[in-house]
Amino acid sequence: MKHNILLIGSGGREHAMTWRIAQSESCGSLFVAPGNAGTSALATNIEIDINNHQALKEFCLTHTISLVVVGPEQPLVDGIVDYFKSENELQHIAVVGPDSKASQLEGSKEFAKEFMSKYSIPTAAYQSFEADQLEEALAYIDQIQAPYVIKADGLAAGKGVVIADDTETAKGTLISFLKDKQFGEASSKVVIEEFLKGIEMSCFVAVDGTENYIILPRAKDYKRIGEGDTGPNTGGMGAISPVPFENEALSKKIEETIVKSTVKGILSEGYHYRGFVFIGLMIVEQNPFVIEYNVRMGDPETQVVFPRFETDYIDFFNAIASGKLNELKHVEIHEAATTVIAVSKGYPQSYEKGKTIVGLAVIDDDRIVFHAGTKTDNEKLLSNGGRVLAFTSYGQSIQSALDKSYEQLSKASFEGMTFRKDIGFDLETE
Ligand SMILES: Nc1ncnc2c1ncn2[C@@H]1O[C@H](COP(=O)(O)OP(=O)(O)O)[C@@H](O)[C@H]1O
Ligand SMILES: [Mg+2]
Repeated sequence: MKHNILLIGSGGREHAMTWRIAQSESCGSLFVAPGNAGTSALATNIEIDINNHQALKEFCLTHTISLVVVGPEQPLVDGIVDYFKSENELQHIAVVGPDSKASQLEGSKEFAKEFMSKYSIPTAAYQSFEADQLEEALAYIDQIQAPYVIKADGLAAGKGVVIADDTETAKGTLISFLKDKQFGEASSKVVIEEFLKGIEMSCFVAVDGTENYIILPRAKDYKRIGEGDTGPNTGGMGAISPVPFENEALSKKIEETIVKSTVKGILSEGYHYRGFVFIGLMIVEQNPFVIEYNVRMGDPETQVVFPRFETDYIDFFNAIASGKLNELKHVEIHEAATTVIAVSKGYPQSYEKGKTIVGLAVIDDDRIVFHAGTKTDNEKLLSNGGRVLAFTSYGQSIQSALDKSYEQLSKASFEGMTFRKDIGFDLETE
C-alpha cells in the first residue's frame, strides 16, 4: 500500500526526513510544508499556513494523506497534534509528534524540571521565579556560586539561556528577562539552575505511546558560531555521530537512569506522545545529567542520526504513531557520520539572503548535501536563511567522515558563505 504523506517544516532536518521517506517503497505522494529547494527535488513543496488547522485538514482530506510528520517544535507546542486527535474526520491519519501538553517538556523549562524531579531523573538543582519575584530571584543570586545558569521558561529560539560568570551579569539578565520581558511571555518566568561542568551530547529516543522505545544513534552538535566553541549560540554549526567518548558503561547509565525513567514518566503522566524525545545531556565524570528535553528531532543532529539509522522510514513513522515500535526492523549503519553547516555571513545576527549557490554536485555515495535555508528562483538556487546547507558524509571514523564533509563543502560557494573549520575538534579522533 502506498502512503501519501505530509511533512511539516523547512530546514535541514526536514530535508533529511524527506530524503529518508522518499526512499521507502511505500511512498506515494510526499508533500512538505513549506519545505526548501532540497525537499522540492524529492517531494512537492506546498504553501499552506501551518497555523491554519482547518486548511491543513482540508489539504489532508483532498490529498488522502495517511501520515503526518511534524519536524519543528513550535507547531507541536501550538497544538497541531491535538487538532488531528480531536477531529473525527482525521482519526485515520497517523501523526508523528506529541500533543501540546507533552510538548511542554520543551515549551517550559520549569515543567520539564518538575517532570524530572518527579521521576528522579538526574538533572541540575534549580529554583524558579515568576515576574513578581524579581527581588527573590536577585537575592537568590547572592546566595549561590558562579557561574549562574539563567533560563527563560518558554521557547526563545535558542537564545533564552544565559550563563553568567559574575553577579552583575546574572542580575542584569534577571532584570531583562523578568522585568523588561526580553522574550515576552517566554521570559515572564525563569529557572536558575546549578552549573554542571562536563561534556554535552544528545540522545534521541523514538516513543510510540506504549512502553516501547528505540534509542537512535547518539550525536553531538556544535552550537557556537566561532571556532573553539566561542561566540554566540546558533541553531547548530555541525554534528557528529557516534559520540567517541561514549563507552558501553555510559550508554547503559543513560538508558537505565534517564531513558527508561523518561519513558515511564511520559506513560504515567498519560501524555499523548508518539514521536521523538531529544534528551540533551551533560556528562559529568561519566555520569549523565539531563540539561533539557526537546520534543522533536534536532537540527543538525538529524542530518547525522537518520543517515546512520537504517530502516523503512514510513514503517518507522507509522510504528511510532501506532504503538508498534517493537515490531520495527532496524540497524545502525556506517561507523560514523558528520555534518558541517554553511551559514550566511553575519549569522546568528543579521544576514542577507538571496545569494546564488553553486557547486553542489555530490562527489560519491558517501556524501549528501542537505538544504537548510534555500529556495529556487527561475531555476537558480538561492540562499534563504541563516543556516543554508548541511554537508553530511559517512566514514569509517569521525575524522574520515569530516574530511569528506569538508572536501564536499570546499566545492560549494555563495557570497559570504561561512562555516566552522573545527567540527569535532574537542574529541579524540582516530
Ligand atoms: N545546568 C547547566 N550547566 C551548564 N551548562 C548548561 C546548563 N544548562 C544549560 N547549559 C548550557 O546552555 C545551553 C542551552 O541550554 P538549554 O537548556 O539546552 O536551552 P535551549 O536549548 O532551550 O537554549 C546548553 O546546551 C548548555 O551548553
Ligand atoms: Mg538546548
